[in-house]
Amino acid sequence: MTDTVLVVDFGAQYARLIARRVREAHVYSEIVSSSITVDEIRARRPKGIIFSGGPKSVYETPAPTIDPAVYDLGVPILGLCYGAQLMALQLGGTVTKTGRGEYGRTELTLTGSSPLCVDWPVTSEVWMSHGDAITEPPPGFTATASSPDAPIAAMHDPDRHLYATQFHPEVVHTERGSEVFERFLLDVCGCLPSWTHMSIIEQQVAAVREQVGDQRVLCALSGGVDSAVAAALVHKAIGDQLVCVFVDTGLMRSGEADQVEDTFRRQFKIDLIHVKAADRYFSALAGVTDPERKRKIIGELFIRIFEEVARDLGAGEGSGDEGPKFLVQGTLYPDVIESGSGTAANIKSHHNVGGLPDDLAFDLIEPLRLLFKDEVRAVGEELGLPHDIVWRQPFPGPGLGVRIIGDVTPERAEILRNADAVLVEEIRRAGLYRELWQSFAVMPAVRTVGVMGDGRTYAYPIVIRAVTSDDAMTADWARLPYDLVERIASRIINEVDGVNRVALDVTSKPPGTIEWE
Ligand code: XMP
Repeated sequence: MTDTVLVVDFGAQYARLIARRVREAHVYSEIVSSSITVDEIRARRPKGIIFSGGPKSVYETPAPTIDPAVYDLGVPILGLCYGAQLMALQLGGTVTKTGRGEYGRTELTLTGSSPLCVDWPVTSEVWMSHGDAITEPPPGFTATASSPDAPIAAMHDPDRHLYATQFHPEVVHTERGSEVFERFLLDVCGCLPSWTHMSIIEQQVAAVREQVGDQRVLCALSGGVDSAVAAALVHKAIGDQLVCVFVDTGLMRSGEADQVEDTFRRQFKIDLIHVKAADRYFSALAGVTDPERKRKIIGELFIRIFEEVARDLGAGEGSGDEGPKFLVQGTLYPDVIESGSGTAANIKSHHNVGGLPDDLAFDLIEPLRLLFKDEVRAVGEELGLPHDIVWRQPFPGPGLGVRIIGDVTPERAEILRNADAVLVEEIRRAGLYRELWQSFAVMPAVRTVGVMGDGRTYAYPIVIRAVTSDDAMTADWARLPYDLVERIASRIINEVDGVNRVALDVTSKPPGTIEWE
Protein backbone atom coordinates (compact mmCIF):
# COMPACT_ATOMS: atom_id res chain seq x y z
CA MET A 1 0.00 0.00 0.00
CA THR A 2 1.50 3.35 -1.08
CA ASP A 3 1.59 6.17 1.46
CA THR A 4 -0.80 8.95 0.47
CA VAL A 5 -0.61 12.65 1.16
CA LEU A 6 -3.70 14.78 0.56
CA VAL A 7 -3.31 18.27 -0.89
CA VAL A 8 -6.30 20.41 0.04
CA ASP A 9 -7.06 22.85 -2.76
CA PHE A 10 -7.92 26.37 -1.63
CA GLY A 11 -8.20 27.72 -5.15
CA ALA A 12 -6.28 28.71 -8.27
CA GLN A 13 -3.63 26.35 -9.56
CA TYR A 14 -1.41 26.14 -6.49
CA ALA A 15 -2.52 22.67 -5.45
CA ARG A 16 -1.34 21.04 -8.66
CA LEU A 17 2.17 22.28 -8.29
CA ILE A 18 2.26 21.13 -4.68
CA ALA A 19 0.95 17.69 -5.65
CA ARG A 20 3.70 17.41 -8.25
CA ARG A 21 6.40 18.45 -5.80
CA VAL A 22 5.20 15.78 -3.38
CA ARG A 23 5.41 13.18 -6.11
CA GLU A 24 8.88 14.38 -7.05
CA ALA A 25 9.79 13.43 -3.49
CA HIS A 26 8.45 9.95 -4.42
CA VAL A 27 5.34 10.13 -2.26
CA TYR A 28 1.91 9.67 -3.79
CA SER A 29 -0.31 12.75 -3.54
CA GLU A 30 -3.95 13.42 -4.30
CA ILE A 31 -5.69 16.76 -4.64
CA VAL A 32 -8.95 17.13 -2.71
CA SER A 33 -11.46 19.94 -2.44
CA SER A 34 -11.55 22.02 0.73
CA SER A 35 -15.15 20.89 1.18
CA ILE A 36 -13.93 17.39 2.03
CA THR A 37 -15.28 16.15 5.36
CA VAL A 38 -13.12 14.90 8.17
CA ASP A 39 -14.71 11.45 7.84
CA GLU A 40 -13.72 11.38 4.18
CA ILE A 41 -10.18 12.37 5.08
CA ARG A 42 -9.99 9.69 7.74
CA ALA A 43 -11.28 7.09 5.30
CA ARG A 44 -8.41 7.81 2.93
CA ARG A 45 -5.88 7.22 5.72
CA PRO A 46 -3.42 9.92 4.63
CA LYS A 47 0.05 10.00 6.18
CA GLY A 48 0.04 13.78 5.83
CA ILE A 49 -2.08 16.71 4.68
CA ILE A 50 -0.93 19.88 2.92
CA PHE A 51 -3.10 23.00 2.71
CA SER A 52 -2.49 24.89 -0.53
CA GLY A 53 -2.30 28.62 -1.03
CA GLY A 54 -5.22 30.40 -2.65
CA PRO A 55 -6.14 33.71 -4.23
CA LYS A 56 -8.41 34.94 -1.43
CA SER A 57 -7.91 36.61 1.93
CA VAL A 58 -9.11 34.63 4.95
CA TYR A 59 -11.29 37.65 5.72
CA GLU A 60 -13.19 37.58 2.45
CA THR A 61 -16.67 36.11 2.40
CA PRO A 62 -16.99 33.58 1.19
CA ALA A 63 -13.43 32.37 1.57
CA PRO A 64 -12.67 28.65 1.41
CA THR A 65 -12.28 26.96 4.76
CA ILE A 66 -11.96 23.47 6.19
CA ASP A 67 -13.58 21.61 9.05
CA PRO A 68 -11.37 22.47 12.08
CA ALA A 69 -11.79 18.90 13.32
CA VAL A 70 -9.02 18.12 10.82
CA TYR A 71 -6.49 19.39 13.40
CA ASP A 72 -7.57 16.69 15.85
CA LEU A 73 -6.99 13.77 13.51
CA GLY A 74 -3.38 13.41 14.62
CA VAL A 75 -2.28 13.50 10.97
CA PRO A 76 0.61 15.93 10.30
CA ILE A 77 -0.51 19.07 8.46
CA LEU A 78 1.57 21.58 6.51
CA GLY A 79 -0.21 24.86 5.72
CA LEU A 80 1.21 26.98 2.90
CA CYS A 81 0.44 30.70 2.44
CA TYR A 82 -3.38 30.90 2.54
CA GLY A 83 -3.31 27.48 4.19
CA ALA A 84 -0.93 28.81 6.85
CA GLN A 85 -3.17 31.80 7.55
CA LEU A 86 -6.27 29.64 7.75
CA MET A 87 -4.51 27.36 10.22
CA ALA A 88 -3.46 30.39 12.29
CA LEU A 89 -6.96 31.84 12.30
CA GLN A 90 -8.79 28.58 13.04
CA LEU A 91 -6.49 27.72 15.95
CA GLY A 92 -6.68 31.08 17.67
CA GLY A 93 -3.78 33.07 16.21
CA THR A 94 -4.02 36.49 14.58
CA VAL A 95 -4.01 37.30 10.88
CA THR A 96 -3.74 41.01 10.18
CA LYS A 97 -4.39 43.16 7.13
CA THR A 98 -1.06 44.95 7.46
CA GLY A 99 -1.53 46.93 4.27
CA ARG A 100 1.93 45.82 3.16
CA GLY A 101 1.89 42.65 1.10
CA GLU A 102 4.92 40.78 -0.18
CA TYR A 103 5.05 39.55 -3.74
CA GLY A 104 8.02 37.81 -5.33
CA ARG A 105 11.49 37.06 -4.02
CA THR A 106 11.95 37.85 -0.34
CA GLU A 107 14.64 37.22 2.23
CA LEU A 108 13.66 34.75 4.92
CA THR A 109 15.36 34.91 8.32
CA LEU A 110 15.26 31.88 10.60
CA THR A 111 14.32 32.83 14.17
CA GLY A 112 14.11 29.35 15.61
CA SER A 113 14.92 25.77 14.65
CA SER A 114 12.48 23.87 12.47
CA PRO A 115 12.55 20.23 11.33
CA LEU A 116 11.55 21.52 7.88
CA CYS A 117 14.62 23.76 7.51
CA VAL A 118 17.44 21.58 8.75
CA ASP A 119 20.93 23.07 8.34
CA TRP A 120 19.65 26.17 6.56
CA PRO A 121 21.70 29.34 6.76
CA VAL A 122 20.14 32.11 8.85
CA THR A 123 18.94 33.88 5.71
CA SER A 124 17.79 32.46 2.39
CA GLU A 125 15.64 33.45 -0.57
CA VAL A 126 11.97 32.45 -0.68
CA TRP A 127 8.95 33.28 -2.83
CA MET A 128 6.09 35.15 -1.22
CA SER A 129 2.65 36.18 -2.44
CA HIS A 130 0.43 37.51 0.32
CA GLY A 131 -1.52 40.59 1.36
CA ASP A 132 -2.45 39.66 4.97
CA ALA A 133 0.13 38.41 7.44
CA ILE A 134 0.14 36.16 10.51
CA THR A 135 1.06 38.48 13.38
CA GLU A 136 0.34 36.26 16.40
CA PRO A 137 0.82 32.47 16.37
CA PRO A 138 -1.96 30.33 17.84
CA PRO A 139 -1.50 29.00 21.39
CA GLY A 140 1.00 26.14 21.42
CA PHE A 141 2.76 27.35 18.26
CA THR A 142 6.30 28.75 17.98
CA ALA A 143 7.39 31.13 15.24
CA THR A 144 10.49 29.83 13.44
CA ALA A 145 11.09 32.40 10.68
CA SER A 146 10.28 35.94 9.61
CA SER A 147 10.61 38.14 6.54
CA PRO A 148 10.45 41.94 6.10
CA ASP A 149 6.66 41.95 5.82
CA ALA A 150 5.71 38.66 7.43
CA PRO A 151 6.55 38.73 11.16
CA ILE A 152 5.68 35.03 11.26
CA ALA A 153 6.88 33.52 8.00
CA ALA A 154 6.99 30.01 9.48
CA MET A 155 5.57 28.46 12.66
CA HIS A 156 4.91 25.05 14.14
CA ASP A 157 3.40 23.08 16.96
CA PRO A 158 5.46 19.87 16.84
CA ASP A 159 3.41 18.20 19.58
CA ARG A 160 0.31 18.36 17.41
CA HIS A 161 2.34 17.80 14.17
CA LEU A 162 1.17 21.13 12.73
CA TYR A 163 3.48 23.18 10.48
CA ALA A 164 2.97 26.29 8.40
CA THR A 165 4.96 28.55 6.10
CA GLN A 166 3.89 31.89 4.69
CA PHE A 167 6.28 31.38 1.78
CA HIS A 168 5.70 29.03 -1.14
CA PRO A 169 8.14 26.09 -1.02
CA GLU A 170 6.53 24.64 -4.18
CA VAL A 171 7.82 27.50 -6.32
CA VAL A 172 11.29 27.06 -7.85
CA HIS A 173 12.34 30.55 -6.70
CA THR A 174 12.26 29.35 -3.11
CA GLU A 175 15.89 28.25 -2.92
CA ARG A 176 15.49 25.19 -0.72
CA GLY A 177 11.77 24.63 -1.23
CA SER A 178 12.03 20.98 -2.21
CA GLU A 179 13.75 20.27 1.12
CA VAL A 180 10.70 21.59 2.97
CA PHE A 181 8.60 18.91 1.28
CA GLU A 182 11.18 16.18 1.78
CA ARG A 183 11.60 16.91 5.48
CA PHE A 184 7.84 17.18 6.04
CA LEU A 185 7.03 14.02 4.08
CA LEU A 186 9.86 11.79 5.22
CA ASP A 187 10.70 13.02 8.73
CA VAL A 188 7.45 14.50 10.03
CA CYS A 189 4.93 12.24 8.29
CA GLY A 190 7.20 9.18 8.12
CA CYS A 191 6.27 8.47 4.49
CA LEU A 192 8.25 5.91 2.52
CA PRO A 193 9.57 7.39 -0.75
CA SER A 194 8.14 4.49 -2.74
CA TRP A 195 6.23 6.31 -5.52
CA THR A 196 8.64 5.63 -8.37
CA HIS A 197 8.08 5.02 -12.04
CA MET A 198 8.74 1.34 -11.52
CA SER A 199 6.22 1.17 -8.70
CA ILE A 200 3.63 3.02 -10.79
CA ILE A 201 4.07 0.45 -13.54
CA GLU A 202 3.89 -2.48 -11.14
CA GLN A 203 0.74 -1.16 -9.48
CA GLN A 204 -1.04 -0.44 -12.72
CA VAL A 205 -0.05 -3.76 -14.24
CA ALA A 206 -1.54 -5.53 -11.22
CA ALA A 207 -4.68 -3.38 -11.31
CA VAL A 208 -5.27 -3.99 -15.02
CA ARG A 209 -4.79 -7.76 -14.62
CA GLU A 210 -7.27 -7.79 -11.78
CA GLN A 211 -9.84 -5.69 -13.68
CA VAL A 212 -9.61 -7.59 -16.94
CA GLY A 213 -9.05 -11.24 -16.03
CA ASP A 214 -8.80 -13.21 -19.26
CA GLN A 215 -11.01 -10.88 -21.32
CA ARG A 216 -9.93 -9.06 -24.44
CA VAL A 217 -9.25 -5.32 -24.42
CA LEU A 218 -9.39 -2.69 -27.16
CA CYS A 219 -7.23 0.40 -27.31
CA ALA A 220 -7.46 3.27 -29.77
CA LEU A 221 -4.01 4.57 -30.65
CA SER A 222 -3.87 8.16 -31.81
CA GLY A 223 -0.14 8.59 -32.30
CA GLY A 224 -0.05 10.78 -29.19
CA VAL A 225 1.87 10.06 -26.00
CA ASP A 226 -1.07 9.28 -23.70
CA SER A 227 -2.68 6.54 -25.73
CA ALA A 228 0.76 5.13 -26.58
CA VAL A 229 1.83 4.87 -22.93
CA ALA A 230 -1.56 3.51 -21.90
CA ALA A 231 -1.32 0.83 -24.60
CA ALA A 232 2.24 -0.14 -23.68
CA LEU A 233 1.28 -0.40 -20.02
CA VAL A 234 -1.79 -2.53 -20.67
CA HIS A 235 0.23 -4.70 -23.04
CA LYS A 236 2.76 -5.31 -20.29
CA ALA A 237 -0.12 -6.41 -18.08
CA ILE A 238 -2.10 -8.66 -20.39
CA GLY A 239 -0.02 -9.23 -23.55
CA ASP A 240 -2.00 -10.74 -26.41
CA GLN A 241 -5.37 -9.97 -24.85
CA LEU A 242 -4.82 -6.39 -26.04
CA VAL A 243 -5.87 -5.33 -29.53
CA CYS A 244 -4.90 -1.84 -30.66
CA VAL A 245 -6.75 0.11 -33.31
CA PHE A 246 -5.17 2.92 -35.26
CA VAL A 247 -7.59 4.80 -37.47
CA ASP A 248 -5.75 6.71 -40.18
CA THR A 249 -8.12 9.57 -40.83
CA GLY A 250 -5.97 11.17 -43.51
CA LEU A 251 -5.61 14.05 -41.05
CA MET A 252 -2.53 12.76 -39.24
CA ARG A 253 0.90 14.35 -39.09
CA SER A 254 3.64 13.33 -41.48
CA GLY A 255 5.02 9.86 -40.75
CA GLU A 256 2.57 9.24 -37.91
CA ALA A 257 0.98 6.08 -39.29
CA ASP A 258 4.37 4.52 -40.06
CA GLN A 259 5.66 5.37 -36.62
CA VAL A 260 2.67 3.76 -34.91
CA GLU A 261 3.06 0.62 -37.07
CA ASP A 262 6.73 0.47 -36.42
CA THR A 263 6.53 0.94 -32.67
CA PHE A 264 3.54 -1.17 -31.85
CA ARG A 265 3.43 -3.90 -34.44
CA ARG A 266 7.13 -4.42 -35.05
CA GLN A 267 8.75 -3.40 -31.76
CA PHE A 268 6.12 -4.34 -29.18
CA LYS A 269 4.53 -7.11 -31.28
CA ILE A 270 1.10 -5.82 -30.36
CA ASP A 271 -1.90 -6.94 -32.37
CA LEU A 272 -2.60 -3.75 -34.33
CA ILE A 273 -5.54 -3.12 -36.59
CA HIS A 274 -4.68 -0.30 -38.96
CA VAL A 275 -7.86 1.11 -40.47
CA LYS A 276 -7.15 3.22 -43.53
CA ALA A 277 -10.15 5.49 -43.50
CA ALA A 278 -8.92 8.65 -45.22
CA ASP A 279 -11.44 8.33 -48.06
CA ARG A 280 -14.34 7.98 -45.65
CA TYR A 281 -13.21 11.04 -43.70
CA PHE A 282 -12.72 13.24 -46.74
CA SER A 283 -16.11 12.35 -48.17
CA ALA A 284 -17.84 12.93 -44.81
CA LEU A 285 -16.13 16.32 -44.56
CA ALA A 286 -16.70 17.43 -48.15
CA GLY A 287 -18.05 20.97 -48.24
CA VAL A 288 -18.12 21.31 -44.42
CA THR A 289 -16.49 24.50 -43.13
CA ASP A 290 -18.08 25.04 -39.71
CA PRO A 291 -15.50 24.10 -37.03
CA GLU A 292 -17.97 22.46 -34.65
CA ARG A 293 -19.58 20.43 -37.45
CA LYS A 294 -16.14 19.27 -38.51
CA ARG A 295 -15.28 18.12 -35.01
CA LYS A 296 -18.61 16.30 -34.71
CA ILE A 297 -18.27 14.55 -38.04
CA ILE A 298 -14.71 13.46 -37.32
CA GLY A 299 -15.64 12.22 -33.83
CA GLU A 300 -18.73 10.35 -34.96
CA LEU A 301 -17.02 8.63 -37.85
CA PHE A 302 -14.32 7.53 -35.45
CA ILE A 303 -16.96 5.92 -33.25
CA ARG A 304 -18.64 4.16 -36.19
CA ILE A 305 -15.31 2.73 -37.31
CA PHE A 306 -14.45 1.71 -33.79
CA GLU A 307 -17.76 -0.08 -33.38
CA GLU A 308 -17.24 -1.90 -36.68
CA VAL A 309 -13.82 -3.08 -35.54
CA ALA A 310 -15.18 -4.23 -32.19
CA ARG A 311 -18.01 -6.14 -33.89
CA ASP A 312 -15.62 -7.77 -36.34
CA LEU A 313 -13.55 -8.99 -33.43
CA GLY A 314 -16.57 -10.77 -31.96
CA ALA A 315 -17.55 -14.18 -33.28
CA GLY A 316 -20.77 -12.74 -34.67
CA GLU A 317 -24.30 -12.15 -33.52
CA GLY A 318 -25.89 -14.83 -31.40
CA SER A 319 -22.55 -16.51 -30.74
CA GLY A 320 -22.36 -14.99 -27.28
CA ASP A 321 -19.04 -13.39 -28.24
CA GLU A 322 -19.73 -9.74 -28.95
CA GLY A 323 -16.05 -8.77 -29.06
CA PRO A 324 -13.90 -7.02 -26.46
CA LYS A 325 -15.70 -5.53 -23.46
CA PHE A 326 -12.93 -3.29 -22.22
CA LEU A 327 -11.58 -0.11 -23.69
CA VAL A 328 -8.30 1.57 -22.72
CA GLN A 329 -8.47 5.31 -22.32
CA GLY A 330 -5.53 7.65 -21.74
CA THR A 331 -7.24 9.87 -19.17
CA LEU A 332 -4.71 11.81 -17.08
CA TYR A 333 -4.93 13.15 -13.52
CA PRO A 334 -5.45 16.80 -14.54
CA ASP A 335 -8.53 15.68 -16.53
CA VAL A 336 -9.81 13.91 -13.43
CA ILE A 337 -9.24 17.00 -11.27
CA GLU A 338 -10.83 19.29 -13.84
CA SER A 339 -13.94 17.14 -13.94
CA GLY A 340 -14.39 18.02 -10.24
CA SER A 341 -16.07 14.88 -9.08
CA GLY A 342 -13.27 12.65 -10.21
CA THR A 343 -15.57 10.53 -12.34
CA ALA A 344 -14.80 9.74 -15.94
CA ALA A 345 -18.23 10.81 -17.16
CA ASN A 346 -17.51 14.47 -16.55
CA ILE A 347 -14.27 14.61 -18.44
CA LYS A 348 -14.35 17.18 -21.20
CA SER A 349 -15.20 15.34 -24.37
CA HIS A 350 -12.13 16.56 -26.16
CA HIS A 351 -9.92 14.86 -23.63
CA ASN A 352 -11.42 11.50 -24.48
CA VAL A 353 -9.53 9.56 -27.07
CA GLY A 354 -11.37 10.32 -30.26
CA GLY A 355 -14.30 11.76 -28.28
CA LEU A 356 -15.86 8.41 -27.49
CA PRO A 357 -19.35 8.77 -26.00
CA ASP A 358 -20.40 7.39 -22.64
CA ASP A 359 -23.00 5.07 -24.10
CA LEU A 360 -20.40 3.05 -25.92
CA ALA A 361 -20.76 -0.43 -24.50
CA PHE A 362 -17.31 -0.75 -22.95
CA ASP A 363 -15.90 -0.78 -19.46
CA LEU A 364 -13.07 1.72 -19.28
CA ILE A 365 -9.52 0.93 -18.31
CA GLU A 366 -7.67 4.10 -17.39
CA PRO A 367 -4.16 3.16 -16.30
CA LEU A 368 -2.93 6.79 -16.36
CA ARG A 369 -5.74 8.42 -14.42
CA LEU A 370 -3.54 9.04 -11.39
CA LEU A 371 -0.64 10.52 -13.34
CA PHE A 372 0.56 13.94 -14.38
CA LYS A 373 1.90 14.36 -17.90
CA ASP A 374 5.55 14.33 -16.83
CA GLU A 375 4.94 11.05 -15.00
CA VAL A 376 3.27 9.60 -18.09
CA ARG A 377 6.34 10.47 -20.14
CA ALA A 378 8.68 8.96 -17.55
CA VAL A 379 6.59 5.77 -17.49
CA GLY A 380 6.65 5.70 -21.30
CA GLU A 381 10.43 5.87 -21.32
CA GLU A 382 10.64 3.19 -18.66
CA LEU A 383 8.44 0.95 -20.82
CA GLY A 384 10.80 1.43 -23.75
CA LEU A 385 8.68 3.63 -26.02
CA PRO A 386 10.75 5.66 -28.50
CA HIS A 387 11.69 9.23 -27.56
CA ASP A 388 9.84 10.51 -30.58
CA ILE A 389 6.54 9.26 -29.25
CA VAL A 390 7.18 9.98 -25.57
CA TRP A 391 8.18 13.60 -26.20
CA ARG A 392 5.73 14.35 -28.96
CA GLN A 393 3.86 17.64 -28.63
CA PRO A 394 0.10 17.34 -28.07
CA PHE A 395 -2.04 16.87 -31.15
CA PRO A 396 -5.80 17.42 -31.18
CA GLY A 397 -8.12 14.45 -31.67
CA PRO A 398 -9.59 15.88 -34.92
CA GLY A 399 -6.04 16.23 -36.23
CA LEU A 400 -5.26 18.46 -39.16
CA GLY A 401 -9.02 18.84 -39.61
CA VAL A 402 -8.99 21.77 -37.16
CA ARG A 403 -5.88 23.30 -38.70
CA ILE A 404 -7.23 23.38 -42.25
CA ILE A 405 -9.59 26.31 -42.15
CA GLY A 406 -12.45 25.98 -44.61
CA ASP A 407 -12.75 22.96 -46.91
CA VAL A 408 -10.90 19.85 -45.81
CA THR A 409 -9.71 18.14 -48.98
CA PRO A 410 -6.98 15.53 -49.56
CA GLU A 411 -4.98 18.11 -51.53
CA ARG A 412 -5.11 20.73 -48.79
CA ALA A 413 -4.33 18.13 -46.13
CA GLU A 414 -1.26 17.06 -48.09
CA ILE A 415 -0.03 20.65 -48.43
CA LEU A 416 -0.48 21.31 -44.72
CA ARG A 417 1.16 18.00 -43.74
CA ASN A 418 4.21 18.84 -45.86
CA ALA A 419 4.47 22.37 -44.51
CA ASP A 420 4.06 21.10 -40.94
CA ALA A 421 6.83 18.53 -41.46
CA VAL A 422 9.24 21.26 -42.56
CA LEU A 423 8.27 23.48 -39.64
CA VAL A 424 8.70 20.72 -37.07
CA GLU A 425 12.02 19.64 -38.59
CA GLU A 426 13.39 23.17 -38.26
CA ILE A 427 12.06 23.58 -34.72
CA ARG A 428 13.75 20.32 -33.74
CA ARG A 429 16.97 21.33 -35.44
CA ALA A 430 16.93 24.58 -33.46
CA GLY A 431 16.62 22.53 -30.27
CA LEU A 432 13.29 24.10 -29.38
CA TYR A 433 10.89 21.18 -29.82
CA ARG A 434 10.67 20.15 -26.15
CA GLU A 435 10.70 23.71 -24.89
CA LEU A 436 7.59 24.60 -26.88
CA TRP A 437 4.23 23.32 -25.81
CA GLN A 438 3.18 23.09 -29.44
CA SER A 439 4.56 24.23 -32.78
CA PHE A 440 2.67 23.53 -35.97
CA ALA A 441 1.42 24.84 -39.29
CA VAL A 442 -2.08 26.16 -40.00
CA MET A 443 -3.72 26.67 -43.38
CA PRO A 444 -6.18 29.57 -43.65
CA ALA A 445 -9.07 29.52 -46.10
CA VAL A 446 -7.69 32.16 -48.43
CA ARG A 447 -5.24 32.30 -51.27
CA THR A 448 -2.83 35.12 -51.88
CA VAL A 449 -0.95 36.50 -54.85
CA GLY A 450 2.79 36.04 -55.08
CA VAL A 451 5.57 36.10 -57.58
CA MET A 452 8.01 33.27 -58.05
CA GLY A 453 10.60 33.35 -60.81
CA ASP A 454 8.94 35.07 -63.73
CA GLY A 455 5.43 34.07 -62.87
CA ARG A 456 2.55 35.26 -60.77
CA THR A 457 1.31 32.70 -58.24
CA TYR A 458 -2.02 32.43 -56.53
CA ALA A 459 -1.64 29.96 -53.70
CA TYR A 460 -2.21 29.26 -49.99
CA PRO A 461 -0.46 31.01 -47.12
CA ILE A 462 0.76 28.94 -44.18
CA VAL A 463 0.68 30.29 -40.64
CA ILE A 464 3.36 29.36 -38.12
CA ARG A 465 1.76 28.70 -34.72
CA ALA A 466 4.15 28.13 -31.79
CA VAL A 467 3.26 28.53 -28.13
CA THR A 468 4.72 28.00 -24.70
CA SER A 469 2.42 26.75 -21.97
CA ASP A 470 2.29 24.59 -18.85
CA ASP A 471 -1.11 23.07 -19.23
CA ALA A 472 -2.77 24.50 -22.38
CA MET A 473 -5.27 26.44 -20.25
CA THR A 474 -3.27 29.57 -21.03
CA ALA A 475 -0.46 29.97 -23.55
CA ASP A 476 1.99 32.57 -24.72
CA TRP A 477 3.02 32.94 -28.34
CA ALA A 478 6.61 31.78 -28.64
CA ARG A 479 9.23 34.37 -29.47
CA LEU A 480 10.98 32.25 -32.09
CA PRO A 481 14.31 33.66 -33.27
CA TYR A 482 13.84 35.65 -36.49
CA ASP A 483 16.47 33.67 -38.38
CA LEU A 484 14.58 30.49 -37.52
CA VAL A 485 11.29 32.04 -38.69
CA GLU A 486 13.00 33.02 -41.90
CA ARG A 487 14.40 29.53 -42.46
CA ILE A 488 11.00 27.93 -41.85
CA ALA A 489 9.32 30.41 -44.20
CA SER A 490 11.75 30.09 -47.06
CA ARG A 491 11.91 26.31 -46.84
CA ILE A 492 8.11 25.99 -46.79
CA ILE A 493 7.70 28.29 -49.78
CA ASN A 494 10.49 26.60 -51.72
CA GLU A 495 9.74 23.02 -50.86
CA VAL A 496 5.97 22.80 -50.48
CA ASP A 497 3.94 23.03 -53.67
CA GLY A 498 0.82 25.13 -53.29
CA VAL A 499 2.24 27.62 -50.73
CA ASN A 500 3.50 31.09 -51.62
CA ARG A 501 3.44 32.98 -48.31
CA VAL A 502 4.14 32.34 -44.62
CA ALA A 503 2.81 34.34 -41.67
CA LEU A 504 3.50 34.17 -37.93
CA ASP A 505 0.70 33.98 -35.36
CA VAL A 506 1.48 36.33 -32.44
CA THR A 507 -1.69 35.69 -30.43
CA SER A 508 -1.58 34.36 -26.88
CA LYS A 509 -4.34 32.39 -25.12
CA PRO A 510 -6.49 34.11 -24.08
CA PRO A 511 -7.69 35.82 -26.22
CA GLY A 512 -6.86 33.24 -28.91
CA THR A 513 -7.06 29.48 -28.57
CA ILE A 514 -4.01 27.40 -29.39
CA GLU A 515 -5.70 25.69 -32.32
CA TRP A 516 -7.34 27.83 -34.98
CA GLU A 517 -10.65 25.99 -34.88
P1 XMP B 1 -7.24 25.15 -27.56
O1 XMP B 1 -7.19 25.23 -29.04
O2 XMP B 1 -8.61 24.96 -27.01
O3 XMP B 1 -6.46 23.81 -27.21
O4 XMP B 1 -6.47 26.27 -26.90
C1 XMP B 1 -5.96 23.46 -25.95
C2 XMP B 1 -5.20 22.16 -26.10
O5 XMP B 1 -6.08 21.09 -26.44
C3 XMP B 1 -5.74 20.54 -27.69
N1 XMP B 1 -7.00 20.29 -28.38
C4 XMP B 1 -7.55 19.08 -28.48
N2 XMP B 1 -7.14 17.88 -28.04
N3 XMP B 1 -9.05 16.87 -29.01
C5 XMP B 1 -7.89 16.76 -28.31
O6 XMP B 1 -7.51 15.65 -27.95
C6 XMP B 1 -9.54 18.04 -29.46
O7 XMP B 1 -10.60 18.11 -30.08
C7 XMP B 1 -8.74 19.21 -29.19
N4 XMP B 1 -8.89 20.52 -29.48
C8 XMP B 1 -7.82 21.17 -28.96
C9 XMP B 1 -4.88 21.58 -28.39
O8 XMP B 1 -4.00 20.99 -29.34
C10 XMP B 1 -4.16 22.20 -27.23
O9 XMP B 1 -3.06 21.42 -26.83
